[in-house]
Amino acid sequence: MVYDRRPDDMKRITTGELADEFIEEQIFALREQIGDKKVLLALSGGVDSSVVAALLIKAVGKQLTCVHVNHGLLRKGEPEQVIEVFKNQMKANLIYVDATDRFLDKLAGVTDPEQKRKIIGSEFIDVFAEEAHKLNGIEFLAQGTIWPDILESEAGIKAHHNAGGLPEDMKFELVEPVKILFKDEVRVVGERLGLPANMVYRQPFPGPGLGVRCPGAITRDRLEAVRESDAILREEFAKNGLEGKVWQYFTVVPDFKSTGVKDGKRTFDWPCIIRAINTTDVMEVTVEHLSDELIDHLVKRIITEVPGINRVLFDYTPKPPATVEYE
Ligand code: XMP
Repeated sequence: MVYDRRPDDMKRITTGELADEFIEEQIFALREQIGDKKVLLALSGGVDSSVVAALLIKAVGKQLTCVHVNHGLLRKGEPEQVIEVFKNQMKANLIYVDATDRFLDKLAGVTDPEQKRKIIGSEFIDVFAEEAHKLNGIEFLAQGTIWPDILESEAGIKAHHNAGGLPEDMKFELVEPVKILFKDEVRVVGERLGLPANMVYRQPFPGPGLGVRCPGAITRDRLEAVRESDAILREEFAKNGLEGKVWQYFTVVPDFKSTGVKDGKRTFDWPCIIRAINTTDVMEVTVEHLSDELIDHLVKRIITEVPGINRVLFDYTPKPPATVEYE
């Protein structure tokens, strides 16, 4: 049975067996809905779109085309993982668009956080629409809408959402196979579909990506410092058993410099700020306190391995008053 809305008495999908049941039902429903037509999906590599992709690959195989837009603000290794999992392992039709230069050129010199977000959002839609125009005979657009998205849009908290902004001439029928699931259920389903654990259980990552962690005008060198320090932080959290335990953790490289000394010479470089937080609803967050050993180790690795960094700071501020992200 396939529902348009989550039934009040629906059992929470917490086990592999319940996930298998859901997967079977959805495969049947997707084949019914799509028939022999073609479907398009913007695949970010996030949990929801990845699970939708895996479901559709199972249901309609090559009738699905995934478009992965690299806006240049993704974390280290993310585009590579999307290509490896979906193109190489699952044999999906995957169009990979490296739009890094396009985004970074548009963002050059832009300091206002809201303006940065707007540019990233509208450029994303332009790139995706351009790719869609190149394809023939697409009738369906798949989306990773989940149940809280629907509840929040009904309550007027969040505009509904993914498809918004596509040009007028692009009219698709929507395919939303996880729209009655909560996030934890999407993860269980994803695991059952064979997606890697680090994709299914990954921490939240904002749409504007590392762009909001490179405050002010984004430059390529400072963005690289954010990407490299973030990769080190994630690696050390995984090694120290903190991955999956701490809600969200990342680095920020602000746009100011301070003096330092390295190999007997004066340096004038950026600081790198570490943020690690816990929460249940992201309205209020507390700070995860790291051990002195881990902090010392992170400082050492970041200042020696990341060009342009000569100082490491830790953000002890809860939300409120500070938001999670810096912009
Ligand atoms: P803030 O900074 O508002 O973040 O305390 C709360 C949560 O939302 C994420 N976040 C975003 N996610 N697009 C997104 O998809 C955004 O523009 C955005 N801004 C913040 C943030 O990472 C945190 O999990």
